[in-house]
Amino acid sequence: MIVQSFSALAGAQFPAGEVWLCGAGPGDPDLLTLRAVQALSQADLILHDALPGRAALRHARRSAEIIAVGKRKGAAPVPQARINARLVAGARAGLRVLRLKGGDPFTFGRGGEESLACEAAGIPWRVIPGISAGMAAPAAAGIPITHRGMASAVTFVTAHDETGALPELNWRALAQSGGTIAAFMALSRLDELALRLLAGGLVPTTPVALISAASLPGQSILRSTLGQCTLDSRRAALPTPTMIIIGAVAALGVQVRTQPLGGLRHAHG
Ligand SMILES: C[S@@+](CC[C@H](N)C(=O)[O-])C[C@H]1O[C@@H](n2cnc3c(N)ncnc32)[C@H](O)[C@@H]1O
Repeated sequence: MIVQSFSALAGAQFPAGEVWLCGAGPGDPDLLTLRAVQALSQADLILHDALPGRAALRHARRSAEIIAVGKRKGAAPVPQARINARLVAGARAGLRVLRLKGGDPFTFGRGGEESLACEAAGIPWRVIPGISAGMAAPAAAGIPITHRGMASAVTFVTAHDETGALPELNWRALAQSGGTIAAFMALSRLDELALRLLAGGLVPTTPVALISAASLPGQSILRSTLGQCTLDSRRAALPTPTMIIIGAVAALGVQVRTQPLGGLRHAHG
């Protein structure tokens, strides 16, 4: 038996020559972790995605080099191999390299690929977990993703595989799991996703919540059903990014009054 000890989280001290893969949460800078803020304030080189936004970067040192590598409208995305190479080169040059990613780095964030690239190059790396949109978006809508007697399981799925297609999952098993389905990157594939789940046995009246720009000033929540959600989402022209919550719990939640920063207040009526 091999027992490995790997301490993903060292102390707050960011050693030179390391790469830290850091989650920035869903967008509201108040949802950064303390560890993320500590890391941002020590990094020499920061490579960031589009989603974390500028507000998180205000914790960076003035002298830090900051490079945007996320998808931007009208611009080709920076290839993953080039990001990996930049992380490794920065660490080899003795820099403290921070890779700032939306949500949690290891949840549909390609953080795994970056950690493997560091590993292959012999670069020490750590991960700082972040609040994933899979947790933050339903919370923003007042939706408990598990609920006694209603949902004893939750499945995080992506609607995009590496080719951009709906992944080859056992959608029937997922439809019949009885749990909540929390779908990432699913807005543009919602018609296909809904059809697979309906074919798998979920009824058209299954509640669906579409939560856009969770925790951000433009946050919006659309309630629908599996049979109706594709049409409703087209009509609503929702802002992105969007998390889609499918299952009985999606009918729960309260009227939510959004406060731009500093949290969400839930109020009935
Ligand atoms: C490439 S994935 C990254 C997920 C990220 N690593 C996480 O843990 O949240 C991007 C998808 O996350 C979801 N997402 C991220 N931030 C969001 C937000 N603030 N509101 C709603 N959905 C969000 C959307 O489904 C979006 O298409």
